[in-house]
Amino acid sequence: MKYAILGGYGLLGKAFQEVLQQSGKAFTAFSKQDLDIRDVADLGRLLPGFDVIINCAAYTDVKGAEIEQKTAYEVNVEGPRNLAAYTRSGPKLIHISSDYVFGGANQSRPYQENDDPDPLNIYGKTKALGEIAVLEENPAALVWRTSWLFSYTGQSFVQKILQQIEQKKEVSVVEDQVGRPTFAQDLAEAVLGLEDASGIFHFANKEPVSRYQFAEAIWLAAKNASISLRCKKMHSVKTKPTDVVRPSYSVLSTQKYAKLAKTPRSWKKPLEITMQKLFSLC
Ligand SMILES: NC(=O)c1ccc[n+]([C@@H]2O[C@H](COP(=O)([O-])OP(=O)(O)OC[C@H]3O[C@@H](n4cnc5c(N)ncnc54)[C@H](OP(=O)(O)O)[C@@H]3O)[C@@H](O)[C@H]2O)c1
Repeated sequence: MKYAILGGYGLLGKAFQEVLQQSGKAFTAFSKQDLDIRDVADLGRLLPGFDVIINCAAYTDVKGAEIEQKTAYEVNVEGPRNLAAYTRSGPKLIHISSDYVFGGANQSRPYQENDDPDPLNIYGKTKALGEIAVLEENPAALVWRTSWLFSYTGQSFVQKILQQIEQKKEVSVVEDQVGRPTFAQDLAEAVLGLEDASGIFHFANKEPVSRYQFAEAIWLAAKNASISLRCKKMHSVKTKPTDVVRPSYSVLSTQKYAKLAKTPRSWKKPLEITMQKLFSLC
């Protein structure tokens, strides 16, 4: 089996590289410069010979998407549609989507795979349309929704909070967004363990938290790792009305995955691992 990782040098793409490498599987990681998923000619030229195509490529800048709407649409909807059309006649397509397809208003239980998307911002809307495009073009494709990715292999909320607590005496973090942090390597392992499935699946680590609670855990993990920090106080605040609107609650249910595989572990141990790796790399 030969795997292609598209968007292969982003946060999740690098985690897939690591997990495939560890399991001794043959893969090629493509950057945007190598292969642009918007370019059908690139797909025809570079993808023949691969058995599994993992699409980690996406326009992921939530704020930027509000301005660069056309680019976000092309990368998150048209690109996945191209891949689905290309893979209809052969290779397996695994496409990654997001908890931002949901909005969280009046939601009191974790979102299941068959709940209706109700995205709030352009990024979420394009991710929701991307899922539809993929499954319309290729019903055998596999779509994984995930949330709040972190790892030592890219830029995430963990690195953002670390930078702030290293540099600032007081740090403010929103408490009105709740979700499930997900270690990118755990997601990659889950996806590769169920690669023959099709349709939509959710994967996220256990234990929903607010952004503020997750930031507090990052602060504690950094203190435990004896990292030199300036931060003395962390404030919980409300999302500013001027910020891009984000889901207040985007907790994904992972029961469907757990029935076929296992209950995901908590994000706490992976957070420790991330901290250790980040500081052993300095
Ligand atoms: N990060 C999260 O918290 C999170 C949460 C839920 C779901 N997801 C989903 O998880 C997937 C992976 O996200 P990530 O966090 O790894 O994002 P990332 O670090 O931003 O990686 C995305 C990669 O896609 C590449 N890319 C952008 N446009 C492309 C194009 N037209 N053709 C080919 N490659 C292109 C980017 O390259 P450049 O950097 O060169 O532009 C980047 O390397 C995405 O589908 C995202 O929507 C992420």
